[in-house]
Amino acid sequence: MHTQISSIGVFDSGIGGLTVLKSLLELIPGVDMVYLGDTARLPYGTKSSRTIIRYSLQCARFLASMEIDMLVVACNTASAHAIPALRDEFHIPVIGVVEAGARAAIEAGGTRIGVIGTSSTVKSRAYEDTIRSLKPDVAIFAQACPLFVPLVEEGWYDDEITFLVASRYLKDLVRANLDTLVLGCTHYPLLKEVLSRIMGEKVAIVDSALSTARVVKNLIDPGKVQDEDRRVSFHLSDSSPRFIELGEHFLGREMKYVYDVDLCV
Ligand code: DGL
Repeated sequence: MHTQISSIGVFDSGIGGLTVLKSLLELIPGVDMVYLGDTARLPYGTKSSRTIIRYSLQCARFLASMEIDMLVVACNTASAHAIPALRDEFHIPVIGVVEAGARAAIEAGGTRIGVIGTSSTVKSRAYEDTIRSLKPDVAIFAQACPLFVPLVEEGWYDDEITFLVASRYLKDLVRANLDTLVLGCTHYPLLKEVLSRIMGEKVAIVDSALSTARVVKNLIDPGKVQDEDRRVSFHLSDSSPRFIELGEHFLGREMKYVYDVDLCV
């Protein structure tokens, strides 16, 4: 069923979710987008489920105050822990990256699927549970890669050190003879080339950012998607110039309309 949507709220622990926003902007013209990055409290990926749920609810309450018609949780860690709590509190469509990424892995024909993500995402087993609910007879291998987020934030996308770190994290996944690797963290699309080099070209890389944008596009009434004109705003709980510089790299375009927000009130 299609929904009339004029404004989508998107949040992440920081700027990784801009990879999701980038795909949303490319696939869905004419809809306003409000992006919130909880940059003051990043990373979520090392925190407990209770804290991730509390932070996610605060992010969503802020976005709800901006009168959005749909919420996209552009953070795998928040999606892995907080979707039920968000759906309980907010009565608009709530789309998470984990569901979309899991579905895309199955659609890619995956039977031996690797999942990489933050420690909290991997610990939650959300990808395993979602993939198995769609297709029970698949082999799944999960690996936490906690150093990837700081490496990406340092801008070391295609660097010798990143290659060494990734080779070490992916050692068991390379041996597992995978056909599909899910990038279960919104920072990881920036490491796609390095990861693909290590895994080999036969392994399909599933980017949950792109898969999520496709899910959102399918839900939206195409009649609404005519007008190229729209407003995109960015709200950060800590807006250092470094975040904006990096954010523009994630997004591949200028970040106009950047505002500070205090989520703890
Ligand atoms: N963007 C987050 C994710 O997709 C990772 C960053 C963090 O640890 O906060 O899981």
